[in-house]
Amino acid sequence: MTEKTLLMIKPDAVQRSLIGRIISRIEEKGLKIIGLQMLQLTESQVDQLYDIHVGKTFYPLLQSFILSGPIVAIGIQGKNAVKVIRKLAGITNSPEAEPGTIRGDYGLDLTKNIVHASDAVERAQYELSILFKKGELVEYELINKNWIK
Ligand code: CMP
Repeated sequence: MTEKTLLMIKPDAVQRSLIGRIISRIEEKGLKIIGLQMLQLTESQVDQLYDIHVGKTFYPLLQSFILSGPIVAIGIQGKNAVKVIRKLAGITNSPEAEPGTIRGDYGLDLTKNIVHASDAVERAQYELSILFKKGELVEYELINKNWIK
């Protein structure tokens, strides 16, 4: 089923010049990028994006890390996009993530874990709405679409 999802490149990966390599993995897999922008998030945007974690012991660290520099928000569309992007990202705790995944290849930490990926279709819709304004996600067809699905 065609789904939309969000992959956010976190400040550590931006500072480490990993943006291009992460974007390439999405393209190489065959998913379509429908939105792309660098943003310095506000405290309120971080609180909305991570509303389910506000109040947890690790939240102040998470919030200050996400505010520490620009992020890159990527809107993605494709067959089973939510699950596929979660698999490409790897599990949350980078040292335990499998080699071949983004976190497994580039991360060594739980907070500085390179990327955030939405975990469900409805959640993706909510998170995309925080990082992209109306009209910033683009509808178009890729010419290679029949070779992918
Ligand atoms: P992310 O996928 O962005 O979702 C929430 C983030 O909180 C997670 O990645 C981690 O970077 C961060 N985090 C820090 N400590 C914890 C923890 N104990 N459990 C889960 N997530 C944590």
